[in-house]
Amino acid sequence: MGREFGSVGVVGLGTMGAGIVEVFARSGLAVTAVEISDVALHRGEATMRGSLDRAVAKGKLSADDRDALLGRVTFAVGLAALHEVDLVIEAVPEHLDLKQRIFAELDRVCKPEAILATNTSSLSVTEISVATGRPNQVIGMHFFNPAPIMKLVEVVRTVVTSQDVVADIEALCERLGKVDVTITDRAGFIANALLFGYLNQAVSMVEARYATREDIDAAMKLGCGLPMGPLALMDLIGLDTAYEILDTMYRRGGRDRRHAPVPLIKQMVTAGLLGRKSGRGFYTYEKPGSPVVVADELTPSKDAEAGQAALSVAKVGVVGSGTMATGIIEVFAKAGFEVVSVTRGAEKSAKVCERLKTSLNKGVVRGKLTEQDRDAAIGRVTWSATLDHLSDVDLVVEAVVEELSVKKALFASLDEICKPGVVLATTTSSLPVIECAVATERPADVVGLHFFNPAPVMGLVEVVRTIRTSEATVATATAVCRALAKHAVVCSDRSGFVVNALLFPYLNDAVKMVEASYSTADDIDYAMKLGCGYPMGPFELLDVVGLDVSLAIQRELYLELREPGFAPAPLLEHLVTAGYLGRKVGRGFRDYSKR
Ligand SMILES: NC(=O)c1ccc[n+]([C@@H]2O[C@H](COP(=O)([O-])OP(=O)(O)OC[C@H]3O[C@@H](n4cnc5c(N)ncnc54)[C@H](O)[C@@H]3O)[C@@H](O)[C@H]2O)c1
Repeated sequence: MGREFGSVGVVGLGTMGAGIVEVFARSGLAVTAVEISDVALHRGEATMRGSLDRAVAKGKLSADDRDALLGRVTFAVGLAALHEVDLVIEAVPEHLDLKQRIFAELDRVCKPEAILATNTSSLSVTEISVATGRPNQVIGMHFFNPAPIMKLVEVVRTVVTSQDVVADIEALCERLGKVDVTITDRAGFIANALLFGYLNQAVSMVEARYATREDIDAAMKLGCGLPMGPLALMDLIGLDTAYEILDTMYRRGGRDRRHAPVPLIKQMVTAGLLGRKSGRGFYTYEKPGSPVVVADELTPSKDAEAGQAALSVAKVGVVGSGTMATGIIEVFAKAGFEVVSVTRGAEKSAKVCERLKTSLNKGVVRGKLTEQDRDAAIGRVTWSATLDHLSDVDLVVEAVVEELSVKKALFASLDEICKPGVVLATTTSSLPVIECAVATERPADVVGLHFFNPAPVMGLVEVVRTIRTSEATVATATAVCRALAKHAVVCSDRSGFVVNALLFPYLNDAVKMVEASYSTADDIDYAMKLGCGYPMGPFELLDVVGLDVSLAIQRELYLELREPGFAPAPLLEHLVTAGYLGRKVGRGFRDYSKR
């Protein structure tokens, strides 16, 4: 028979604590919410009331339920108020000495059978537990932000946590409507160990002016379907908290450079730019604590964008006959551009034409396209097996095989055939765009237009500017994306551009975590989906993308940036060698042959 929790205490009503109080009170538990001072208590209470009022306004909670919920919460200053509770969750700032002091005090104040839990994201639960006389009743209960919404709780068991306590906390998570993943005490547990390397890398892109904050966030939302971009998420987490988490993970987690906090974070913390809670972080908010972003001096002006001298583009050449080329032809033709498709022969053209018609027909069946629009789109495409037909186009998009020698030869030919001033674009995902540019006599006109698969569906295009690309070419490329109703993000010509550079090292880190036997593919997939709201877990995604493709991208990133943390996980290499390439062959991290 498990233990019954009648009342709980929460220490610290900041970003996390206020949400955790709400989670418990929603489940009918009596909660004592404790802060360090009257001022902090009122601030925490206001945060919680604000969140509940928003839920009422959105119709997600009735006013009566809100009042009943608040009726279950007692607000108090000082830990002494916790003498009667069955469980305490500590959510004070991420400093070991502070947490140890609080646990020593809780040990004195709380009844002997009470369980003491910490919401730490990165500190050692074991080190916190030894500050008490009851380390076997100390456990990690790591909630995710925003706590009332995110389903995951990482339950962290130390070597001395008693099995009964683990089972009781697991049962409690179920009662709270949460999904728990129980793990041992390692820096960053599952989700943060995988999340923060990625967040830190995104900040380094801002610091290096590689792309703008808006573009980095849009790239990850539109390119990977993430609920928030990394910089908006840093603001939500709080830059001070993020700094402490990274710093601790770096020191505890084997000094992995991916976790060494990027200097910009410390500078922003020192300047008081803590994110949403202080009203300013990477973005500026209406007021401290508000989720509403307001324009500031870094917000791109729409007028400036529209005013850039873009060349007019009416006729587009698309070279290639694969999945990407076919999708790109569809995108342009549907948007009203005249398209010249060039393949390596009439047979290939016929196949591309067939696939284009099938895809457009699906649009008609789904009611997304009228029959007239379909026919008009098909009518806009002319089919050719020779590059000579590109002599009068305004833009060429190349989507041939991902081999540098082939692409360079193609660009040299385009240079001879195309009229002056035409924009020449490559849709390469991994090769340097500058290599294509210097194969021509007009490198200023060469740009990357990295579409995502399937091109007709995905709303993102990365516009890759080399060190030779002219402003006019970038302006034309972004204007064309606007005409295609795609979101263009502009970035520099570095391996992986924005999306792949941020995505694949994270996937690689997940493989390393399984390799180290810290967790399983299933639990890691759960953690990222339920803790961070990702549409797919890393192993599901790796199997879909293909392990061979993922390994190739990771190798490129490693070779270009020489970042030790980017070295491909040996397990990934072994699986590829063994022929376990993912869904396409029926087996990758998971076996699909029996499903
Ligand atoms: N921010 C996140 O996204 C997130 C997610 C999961 C876990 N965590 C973890 O949760 C914990 C809290 O982080 P946060 O972001 O909520 O921090 P925060 O700075 O927003 O809030 C901390 C609160 O603790 C209060 N406090 C400080 N000393 C206290 C004391 N002696 N007694 C009572 N209250 C005290 C502060 O007044 C403040 O309100 C950290 O361990 C953090 O790593 C954070």
